[in-house]
Amino acid sequence: MTKRVKKAVFPVAGLGTRFLPATKASPKEMLPIVDKPLIQYAVEEAVAAGIEIMVFVIGRNKHSITDHFDTAYELESELEARGKDELLKVVRGIVPPHVSCIYIRQAMPLGLGHAVLCAQPVVGDEPFAVVLADDMINDGGAGCLAQMVEAFANAGCSILGTEQVAAEETDRYGIVDAEGEGPLLEVKSIVEKPRPEEAPSNLAVVGRYILTSGIFTHLSQTGRGAGGEIQLTDAIARLMEKDRVLAYRFTGTRYDCGSKLGYLMATVDYALQHPELAEGFREWLKERFFGANTRG
Ligand code: UTP
Repeated sequence: MTKRVKKAVFPVAGLGTRFLPATKASPKEMLPIVDKPLIQYAVEEAVAAGIEIMVFVIGRNKHSITDHFDTAYELESELEARGKDELLKVVRGIVPPHVSCIYIRQAMPLGLGHAVLCAQPVVGDEPFAVVLADDMINDGGAGCLAQMVEAFANAGCSILGTEQVAAEETDRYGIVDAEGEGPLLEVKSIVEKPRPEEAPSNLAVVGRYILTSGIFTHLSQTGRGAGGEIQLTDAIARLMEKDRVLAYRFTGTRYDCGSKLGYLMATVDYALQHPELAEGFREWLKERFFGANTRG
């Protein structure tokens, strides 16, 4: 019987160089989209997929992530004393009671593959999800990871979240050569950051994976690859020599919040959906772009 996916790994030990100086002392994953940090959206997506154990692979300057998911005793008693019940609910509800958070340190940022390998002692011999918080995905429902966990329950093999990207962007992603019809495709090969003229397709792996524990053996044998980093993509290529790997074309919109442009797009779209802000923000945008005061 296929094992249930109960654990998610969040690699948050990258340097976040594209957002310097904002990420000099604070991790990229704590950048807010409107009023929640990126990492909280990612954890909420995992909770909605039925995941109960959140494993954060942290690096230097990541204390704020640990603090964010911890109980803030002083803040809570202050809010309680001031009768700020709604805010108290928001602060207390960040991690539901049935969910546990575990933190592992990646001593050096040797790459995404190495960060995932650091989680092996906690993940053990179970299938697990990997979520990159800087890829935000909004499917208007339970979330991309919930879609993938369901697909895993049927397929029982590793599944990569994928989406078509522009041909000139293949050198920013792991790119798969995949065959089949519908949302689940058989992966024939995978390559990290190929130049557009060498890419087997423009189907890119984005920040959602369900992996079987066999990946750890391959990660431990993977040397430095593209960009001098230990790449998860290279270990997946080795896993595929023996095991079936599927590409899942999720439904939903992805925002690449690791880039400034994607981050701004997510901010605007989420603000336009925010119950308290949507109306005022929409009016302001109209005035800003069409000049006239359209209120009324
Ligand atoms: P990125 O490729 O986005 O790198 O990492 P980065 O360092 O976060 O950001 P830039 O490119 O310098 O701006 C993809 C994911 O892998 C994690 C990152 O935190 C991010 O979630 N990662 C990367 C690690 O956890 N450890 C690493 O050694 C490298």
